[in-house]
Amino acid sequence: MPCPFLGSLNQAFVRNYGAALMKQYGNYCPIISRGFRSLGQDETKCPFIQENSIVSEAPREMTEDIVDRSPYQYDKFFHDQINAKKKDYSYRVFRKVSRLAAEGAYPKALEGSANNRVTVWCANDYLGTSRHPAVQDAAVSAIKAYGTGAGGTRNIAGNSQMTEQLEAEIAKLHKKPAALIFSSCYVANDATLSTLGKLLPGCHIYSDAGNHASMIQGIRHSQAPKHIFRHNDPNHLREMLEASPIGVPKLVVFETVHSMSGAICPLEEMCAIAHEYGALTFVDEVHAVGLYGKHGAGIGEERGIEHMIDIVSGTLGKAFGNVGGYIAGSSLLVDTVRSLAPGFIFTTALPPPVLAGSLASIRLLASEEGRTLRAKHQAMVRYLKLSLLVAGLPQLPSVSHIVPVPIKGADKVALVAESLMKRGHYVQAINYPTVARGEERLRFAPGPHHTPEMIDQLVTALTEAFHENNISFNQFIKNGACRECSMEYKFDVMYEEPYKLPLAA
Ligand SMILES: Cc1ncc(COP(=O)(O)O)c(C=O)c1O
Repeated sequence: MPCPFLGSLNQAFVRNYGAALMKQYGNYCPIISRGFRSLGQDETKCPFIQENSIVSEAPREMTEDIVDRSPYQYDKFFHDQINAKKKDYSYRVFRKVSRLAAEGAYPKALEGSANNRVTVWCANDYLGTSRHPAVQDAAVSAIKAYGTGAGGTRNIAGNSQMTEQLEAEIAKLHKKPAALIFSSCYVANDATLSTLGKLLPGCHIYSDAGNHASMIQGIRHSQAPKHIFRHNDPNHLREMLEASPIGVPKLVVFETVHSMSGAICPLEEMCAIAHEYGALTFVDEVHAVGLYGKHGAGIGEERGIEHMIDIVSGTLGKAFGNVGGYIAGSSLLVDTVRSLAPGFIFTTALPPPVLAGSLASIRLLASEEGRTLRAKHQAMVRYLKLSLLVAGLPQLPSVSHIVPVPIKGADKVALVAESLMKRGHYVQAINYPTVARGEERLRFAPGPHHTPEMIDQLVTALTEAFHENNISFNQFIKNGACRECSMEYKFDVMYEEPYKLPLAA
């Protein structure tokens, strides 16, 4: 008969620490407790413990294990982890979608092994710049002239004229003295916040509750004391800063356009409060750069308050259609991050096609053509929001280009996405950990290359998908509130028109 205590423990652990275990926990054992203090004299009272062997009468597998020295069961551990994800529907199976770039084919993609043609509704290549001829040509020419890879870190052979040109262009776009590029904006946010938070003596960080994982990680890595204020709530930020230590460095960290809800923060108010308490503002404009403001510098530019943002972070991977991320700010701050952030220093620099493509894209979106693209983009967004409303389908009250349709339950939202795919529309189901459990949604990002006809087809397909999966609607909106998600609709805000241009191309 196995010892009920030792038999339940990891066998290698018992082998190595059995005696110590008995000394520490033996008094909980009904047999050993009678004599555990003089273990050695009284141990024979226990049928499992014989002279000189704490596990001599242990179960057979246990004694075999002692001989085998069996290693840790890595596969079992990973299997259990994956199983837990599958059980709560958060296990991810990536769709194979090859987005087409050719004129007339965009925004379609070939999906799955059968290469079915579908319309893509969830890409963050918001304005289609990844396939714009000027951007493509710049990338191809750069490959021909300089090859595909950077060849090293910025310090060792990876810094070119184009690298510095791109940084100068980003600095100009944001009206800042300096900019620094990173492999992605995830890295930019993580590297900058962790470095500043660690470096600034006694720094406290104030972080919006809705912040993206990249900022959360950066703040964690800095090990600075952090204070989380309610999402986009300047009053709560003020309360926290009011209680903050005087004379110590502080960072206030938040996003302008929220990636999953489409909310836009009260930028001016939040920056003003941060400055009142002597804090620096770190503002993530990832879902705004290229899309808002006369030159596409983001919400800061649109509202004429770029100067209130001390450090802006942005991505080259969404509206700019490439890959990479950046920060822009004062020369000294940028030089400090350049000199001290491991996430910047110890990695291969961005490659020539990405540098050239990004430069071309930033210039394109700062031009008249960029303004036309932005106007068409907003027109399509408005058309989708209104079409959903007319069809009685639910939507969250987004004031930006992101159109979230709430469908509670990871299983339900996946089923609706699948029904849409069958009808030729690809939109990814968004679930935990990207959003909290219970806040699952489809996140639509219509672009200037979608047409009103495509949107009509999408809304018809979505209506059918709701029916097919027995999700009732037309009942979502009651007294201005969404029944399903108990969120309030503010239609006057939702359909406010930042660009009063006609729908026509
Ligand atoms: C708000 C926000 N910040 C930062 C990032 C990271 O940007 P990147 O894709 O360039 O790593 C994302 C990515 O989705 C994001 O949504």
